[in-house]
Amino acid sequence: MTLPAALKRNMGVIAKRPIANVAWRYDAKPENGYHQEYWRRLQELKYDFATGEARARVDADGAVGTAMRFTAMQKGVHVLIVGTSKPERWKQNAELLRAGPLSAEVEASIRATWKETAQEDWIGQT
Ligand SMILES: NC(=O)c1ccc[n+]([C@@H]2O[C@H](COP(=O)([O-])OP(=O)(O)OC[C@H]3O[C@@H](n4cnc5c(N)ncnc54)[C@H](OP(=O)(O)O)[C@@H]3O)[C@@H](O)[C@H]2O)c1
Repeated sequence: MTLPAALKRNMGVIAKRPIANVAWRYDAKPENGYHQEYWRRLQELKYDFATGEARARVDADGAVGTAMRFTAMQKGVHVLIVGTSKPERWKQNAELLRAGPLSAEVEASIRATWKETAQEDWIGQT
């Protein structure tokens, strides 16, 4: 079901993998099969927020902050699931969302890059 369809039915929506396994952290193809497809797509997308120094930044405009804020700002999304093995990160990640939605310019740029680059078979992953 699409997000607009869920909205229409007044359903709660959980966004899974908003940070895509942090696949931008890898310089070479990751060994973990779950991470490979995200990594492959990011090689083509070359998002500003997921390349260069932004990859490792821990502020709200770094890669994790941007990815979470982008997902959380979508109308109809209620909850994000972000996995971590480090309990302190749960709070740190939640704090990044305090910055609120991305600017309209940054959101538009992320969408435009996706539209220009994404292939038909770039569907949601399990
Ligand atoms: N139903 C299903 O079929 C299914 C399948 C797979 C996963 N899931 C669920 O989906 C959720 C998310 O999956 P996931 O954990 O595989 O992927 P994820 O949330 O996309 O990524 C988790 C990874 O992100 C890292 N991370 C988290 N916050 C970070 C930060 N601020 N900076 C840098 N790295 C950060 C974690 O590293 P650290 O551990 O070092 O923090 C971990 O390696 C989980 O709840 C999982 O149970 C469900």
